[in-house]
Amino acid sequence: MQKQQQTKLITFPAAWTWLMDEAVTQLVKTHYSPRESWKNKPFGKEDARFFFKGIEELSEFFTEERPKGMPAYFQHPKFRSAYILYFLPLQAAKFISLFQMHASAFEAAWEHAKKSGVLRIADLGSGPGTASLAALLMFLERSTRTGEEIPKIVLEWIDTNRNSLEDGRVLVEQLSESFSRLRNRVEIRTHVAPWWKAPLLIEGKTSLLLLGHVLNESSGPSPLREDDRANWIDLWSGLFAMAEGGGTLIVDLAARRTSQLLSRFRDEWISSRIFENDRRIWGPCLHAKACPLADGRDWCHFSVPTEIPGMWFREFSKGLGSERQWLKFSYLWIASKDFPAPSPDSRARRVISDPLGKGKTADILICEPEKPGRIRTKPQGAAPIYRGEIIRVPKK
Ligand SMILES: C[S@@+](CC[C@H](N)C(=O)[O-])C[C@H]1O[C@@H](n2cnc3c(N)ncnc32)[C@H](O)[C@@H]1O
Repeated sequence: MQKQQQTKLITFPAAWTWLMDEAVTQLVKTHYSPRESWKNKPFGKEDARFFFKGIEELSEFFTEERPKGMPAYFQHPKFRSAYILYFLPLQAAKFISLFQMHASAFEAAWEHAKKSGVLRIADLGSGPGTASLAALLMFLERSTRTGEEIPKIVLEWIDTNRNSLEDGRVLVEQLSESFSRLRNRVEIRTHVAPWWKAPLLIEGKTSLLLLGHVLNESSGPSPLREDDRANWIDLWSGLFAMAEGGGTLIVDLAARRTSQLLSRFRDEWISSRIFENDRRIWGPCLHAKACPLADGRDWCHFSVPTEIPGMWFREFSKGLGSERQWLKFSYLWIASKDFPAPSPDSRARRVISDPLGKGKTADILICEPEKPGRIRTKPQGAAPIYRGEIIRVPKK
């Protein structure tokens, strides 16, 4: 059995550290300092101590599974500032990681923008624009590397919290003013509304449609309630029709309830034929039959080894008890009709568990329709195979 795709460390774009250590901290300092006299000085240890209290509290709310009746935490400045300082880099790193794992899907967004003349990114439940900022950093990096000009970018953000949208606007404006390749190229349109109004609010097609960490809080219309099913079908048909180019990327918690919700959505999209046959999934699925992890004890989630750059992120991670070495998430990346994902090799399988057991040989679970497959791996001396990797199974 061979590995076809191995987990790689992500490479962070060059502008990452500036954005997180300078722009983010400056925004928090200017908008959220409790005293006027603090506002015009650089962010320092004293600020870190003050804002860390909110980070600690928010991280308790954000346990693996969000509590039922999650409070509207973004209404409170303490939690907005905490989110921007610590969770924005954490969640943005997940997007960067996926943009690199599925580089062809990300490239499809660029290709689409070159043809249409505008790179429109819809970011639903955008908060302070986390997912869009990750995309901007990657497009900036791409342009610096290749010398190709960045097309006009339109960011369409939808969120129920106006303050958070405005914080994100400041960050994007600073980013685009500070890097000449982005200067005067980025327009932001904010909409204070539930994310499922997107088909009514956004005009034109998107090169990339992103939903980051919103479904776990607010999944919107449901296919599982009979009286809501038609709304759900209308909504997702509308979103997929809008999402050209790089398609639709949904990233969410690695927790069971959220991940199984995504798996159920995926199965329902397929069975209700919201996907045309020529539209495929960039990842993680390598088949279009029933998901084996839509219920039961296991769920489809991934852990990517990483070291997130930035001195303040490191400081806050240490304060929370450990330096972050893994990014954990569930995701689904649905291809657009105009840029379908390639057909996977029929013997390729996504690994959906870490090695089970520590002996000389270990079993792993692999993604097969309806029920996970289980195979023995690790002949002596071979590297272990981890969750998320793609292997090629022997011919039957
Ligand atoms: C955990 S934050 C995620 C923010 C950002 N997308 C990210 O990945 O960092 C969840 C966001 O969803 C927003 N939200 C919650 N329910 C919503 C709804 N029904 N419609 C739009 N936004 C919603 C919240 O205001 C918050 O900004």
